[in-house]
Amino acid sequence: MKPLRIALTKGRLEKTTVELFEKIGYNCDEIRDKGRRLILPVYNGDGGLAFEVVLAKAADVITYVENGVCDLGVVGKDTILENGTSFYELLDLGFGKCRFALATKKDFDFYDGYARKTVATKYPNVTRAFFDEKNLDVRIIKIEGSVELAPLVGLSDGIVDIVETGSTLRANGLDVIEWVTDISARLIANTASLKLRKAEIEALQRKLEEVTK
Ligand code: PRP
Repeated sequence: MKPLRIALTKGRLEKTTVELFEKIGYNCDEIRDKGRRLILPVYNGDGGLAFEVVLAKAADVITYVENGVCDLGVVGKDTILENGTSFYELLDLGFGKCRFALATKKDFDFYDGYARKTVATKYPNVTRAFFDEKNLDVRIIKIEGSVELAPLVGLSDGIVDIVETGSTLRANGLDVIEWVTDISARLIANTASLKLRKAEIEALQRKLEEVTK
């Protein structure tokens, strides 16, 4: 049988996931020494192939898992909320913790007055859901990065963005008005894989549960 294939979000989550895999006894030397390679083998302690890791951008992790070319994925809850639900969320891995927040320039009263407000964000679906819940009609502008810039240059009244330490907001004179939701890294599974390869997936899930609780 083919080895399990796990899509891993490149960058921040990659490092901690590799550390977790090593903690439960897997050899991740090939990932640590990957160069420009994107598909990497992970070995058991006895040298046998345990599974394969595919390195991808966060939203693509979901695409690979939803389409069944990867059995499992490690991705942030932010990307899950924004991009899709056609998979199982198996486990909160407990790292990559941050929060979505609504923020504005200091001393700006976002909820004051009747004028329709404008909100810039990399996460239009999350932002839409947040304001729909409040029955508030806002104009959403999609930004690709450094969202904090938008209210500073007058493009928007506020932003919905990820806050980890809060230092980006502070450095740019912005304040959190409201917390939207908590975020952390999640283990997700393709729905068919979960049925067809239940034992293998559950075994890995149990090991990860042990080191993340
Ligand atoms: C994220 C987020 C904030 C920042 C928050 O951006 O969009 O800008 O990190 O972190 P902090 O609260 O610890 O300051 P990222 O670094 O991913 O860059 P980007 O906005 O250019 O995508």
